[in-house]
Amino acid sequence: MAERQEVLLNPTLTLTFALHWSHRGRGPRTLTFRASERPELARFLLHAELDDDDLSVELTPDLVVELRKEGIIGDRDSLPENLEFNFDLPDDVAYSASSLQPYVNRINYDPVPSGRLVVNPQCYLQCGEHYPVAVAGRVPFAPIVRQDDEVLWVRDPGTEILAPYRISDWRSVAILRGLCGRDDESSSLMDLIRRLGDHDEDTLRRAHVLVPDDYVEARSKQWTMVCEDLRTTLRANDFVVIRGIFNPTQIHVMRRHYRTALELGHFSQRDDPAGKRIVAYNDPAARFLHHQQVALLNHIVPAPIKASYCYLAFYEPGAVLARHKDRPQCAWNLSVPLDASPETDRHDAWPIYVEVRGKAHEVRLELGDGILYPGTELFHWRDAQPAEHRTTVCFFHFVPEDFTGSLE
Ligand SMILES: [Fe+2]
Repeated sequence: MAERQEVLLNPTLTLTFALHWSHRGRGPRTLTFRASERPELARFLLHAELDDDDLSVELTPDLVVELRKEGIIGDRDSLPENLEFNFDLPDDVAYSASSLQPYVNRINYDPVPSGRLVVNPQCYLQCGEHYPVAVAGRVPFAPIVRQDDEVLWVRDPGTEILAPYRISDWRSVAILRGLCGRDDESSSLMDLIRRLGDHDEDTLRRAHVLVPDDYVEARSKQWTMVCEDLRTTLRANDFVVIRGIFNPTQIHVMRRHYRTALELGHFSQRDDPAGKRIVAYNDPAARFLHHQQVALLNHIVPAPIKASYCYLAFYEPGAVLARHKDRPQCAWNLSVPLDASPETDRHDAWPIYVEVRGKAHEVRLELGDGILYPGTELFHWRDAQPAEHRTTVCFFHFVPEDFTGSLE
């Protein structure tokens, strides 16, 4: 019988706590301390965090006062609101200066389509908690989408990216059920479309729910050619710019979501010395986008890849991204601006630089465009962002499919 061996904790081990939270009124706060320095606080935090917000650990009155003052505990009114992912299909696509529909979509959009409109055959309606068959297994991190709503899943046949939109409080669900062919009692498709007003039809067209009848074939063919070009360019230049990865309506949803999140003080961690960059690691909504891009990138990179982690950054005026290379989890880095205020385009966007064989290349991206480069091999950076400009960028990281290291 094997003798039981004594197991000891390494005596050199130290446990450090790094707290990041938003104080309602004072904004982002951080606190770092060694567990041995503040054992009472360490015990309370471990219990509260790991046991589902259980705050039953007794605290001394002094510590209660301190934690309340810091906004770590408090009553409902004193703490920031919780954040739900708002993926309502936007119907404010009218072209005011405050519209969140990206400018690129406003100028490239044909308001009077030629030819017949049909419902995108790659548009699927979810009623209740089960994903449509065509979507199931293709949507890692979809729990950001509430499952007690009617969800319209729209697949882009070119990029293979799925976009979810909530429709329950938007328009008649009966019409959409009819549009998606789920309601046998419904009148004909064209009757249903006629029942939509011009504004509704426009909204559905922008989300690619209503499309020209050759859409699937044309879009697939277009992106097959785009990917061929991108593959060749990547091989020659070591980096490549991919235009229009996300549907502008999907960008609209993400902009609205993150602007609300910032207003609510949902994000709190700053990671740069100047304190001009708020960041979020593996934010759930960004993570959903992250995994949707794997199929597209696998048509562009030389060998198969998988997603590792993503990092969301809200850059304030004057923020910089220091020149650096990335860690092994960033073998491929796809950097995508999701918001810019004021909105910029490919001529005046805040540039990112990548250095290839000693030469710096300046790249300007519109919302929903991405630059793909090997983050572990190429230096990359951004100089100071102009005054009064704010930019939200997500870094989506990928590794070779056979990578065995941590994906964190
Ligand atoms: Fe980087």
